[in-house]
Amino acid sequence: FVPSRRCLCLLGMLMAGFLLLSPCPASCDSCPAPCECSEAARTVKCVLKDLKAVPLEIPNYTKNLFITGNQISRIGAGSFRGLENLVTLSLNNNRINFVESQAFASLPNLRFLDLSNNRLAVIQPDAFNPRNNSIQELNLSRSLYNHSAISDVAAALSSGGFVHLSKLELAENEIIYLPLGIFSSLFSLKHLDLRNNSIVDVKNTTLSGLDMEFLDLSLNAIKTFRIGTLNELKKQPHLQMVLKDNPFVCNCDIEDFIQWLNATTQVLDIDKLSCAFPRGLQNTSLLAVQETELGCHANDGGEIVMQTSYVFLGTVLGFIGIIFLFVLYLNRKGIKEWICNMRDACRNLMEGYHYRYEVDSDPRVTQVSTSDV
Ligand SMILES: *[C@@H]1O[C@H](CO)[C@@H](O)[C@H](O)[C@H]1NC(C)=O
Ligand SMILES: *[C@@H]1O[C@H](CO)[C@@H](O)[C@H](O)[C@H]1NC(C)=O
Ligand SMILES: *[C@@H]1O[C@H](CO)[C@@H](O)[C@H](O)[C@H]1NC(C)=O
Ligand SMILES: *[C@@H]1O[C@H](CO)[C@@H](O)[C@H](O)[C@H]1NC(C)=O
Ligand SMILES: *[C@@H]1O[C@H](CO)[C@@H](O)[C@H](O)[C@H]1NC(C)=O
Ligand SMILES: *[C@@H]1O[C@H](CO)[C@@H](O)[C@H](O)[C@H]1NC(C)=O
Ligand SMILES: *[C@@H]1O[C@H](CO)[C@@H](O)[C@H](O)[C@H]1NC(C)=O
Ligand SMILES: *[C@@H]1O[C@H](CO)[C@@H](O)[C@H](O)[C@H]1NC(C)=O
Repeated sequence: FVPSRRCLCLLGMLMAGFLLLSPCPASCDSCPAPCECSEAARTVKCVLKDLKAVPLEIPNYTKNLFITGNQISRIGAGSFRGLENLVTLSLNNNRINFVESQAFASLPNLRFLDLSNNRLAVIQPDAFNPRNNSIQELNLSRSLYNHSAISDVAAALSSGGFVHLSKLELAENEIIYLPLGIFSSLFSLKHLDLRNNSIVDVKNTTLSGLDMEFLDLSLNAIKTFRIGTLNELKKQPHLQMVLKDNPFVCNCDIEDFIQWLNATTQVLDIDKLSCAFPRGLQNTSLLAVQETELGCHANDGGEIVMQTSYVFLGTVLGFIGIIFLFVLYLNRKGIKEWICNMRDACRNLMEGYHYRYEVDSDPRVTQVSTSDV
């Protein structure tokens, strides 16, 4: 019976080995071939594996999923289906250019989504759950293929689903303008990073209705902030901003902004803000710019000076006139005499003229006189 016992033992060992090595059924904890999975940490990593697509059969215990540094170009509707426990999803450093509808819609616990360093050209409008999704932090830095893609981002953000979004990163995307209403549905937004874009103007409506804590607009193309926008910023009492490295233009349009800066505590890098134009004020700190240098009230001032000089001239002329009249009044007798004399003189003169005229106009006299010559 000894050999049969050995046999049983071997069989048992084989069975145990088979159970350990064999792929589990779907509900069990399989790990996609190129990835590393840790059930204990509920983490799956597929890092730098040249993957062309999101691997199938990611275990559903996964809370943290890192599929970074691959060649993935498309996120499909079913890419993350069934990952009900997923909280953190990092897809940064891929080549994602197309995000299909429903791509992130079936992840009820997703809180942190990193799509940075991709090439997003198309994000279909219902890629995210349009009703009350759970995303709290969204990293879209260096992720847009070109500045047109911001309109897809705006459509997704303003769909109304991002009620829990508190941190949004959109740095280094060459964004030129912020589409109307892009942030207006983000009621929980606290931290907004727009660093290193090409934003020219922040409209009064762009940030209205928010109650943010941190806004980075450094390294953009902002020339000034207008009064409507400044008023919106003022309404967010917890907001701190970074605004350096913008080409502020120190002309009349910046007057409101400079006055606002002089009173605000909301700008963290206030000492680093300076004029880029005009040449005469280049590199002058905005805090050191004098109102007179902006030349805003040059015209008003000029008018006032002109008006003053007219009033002065009028007064002087009036005074001279009065003196003249007074002198005339004092000399009224002499003048009367003088006028009489003049009249007599005139009369004599006129009579003499009359006489001469009559003589001159007599043709005979004229002929005589000419023939005499
Ligand atoms: C994983 O999925 C299976 C079915 O596919 C299900 O029975 C199981 O409860 C899921 N586990 C978790 C942790 O959701
Ligand atoms: C977002 O992505 C950028 C670019 O990859 C990175 O520098 C930044 O640290 C990321 N932010 C967070 C919160 O991970
Ligand atoms: C959104 O969902 C959360 C639970 O995930 C719930 O507490 C909250 O009331 C919902 N908000 C809205 C506006 O539906
Ligand atoms: C941005 O890329 C898209 C997709 O390739 C293209 O249709 C669009 O014309 C580009 N926009 C600009 C401003 O280059
Ligand atoms: C700003 O972004 C560009 C790419 O858009 C990058 O080349 C440059 O290094 C960035 N500058 C800084 C200071 O981050
Ligand atoms: C924003 O500015 C426009 C004019 O530029 C004005 O009509 C509008 O009332 C302003 N809105 C707010 C909220 O200040
Ligand atoms: C800045 O504020 C101070 C008082 O806080 C005021 O005296 C000064 O004139 C202001 N400067 C400008 C440029 O508004
Ligand atoms: C302003 O600063 C920049 C860089 O710091 C420099 O290149 C430029 O010459 C300066 N311009 C003036 C007028 O000082």
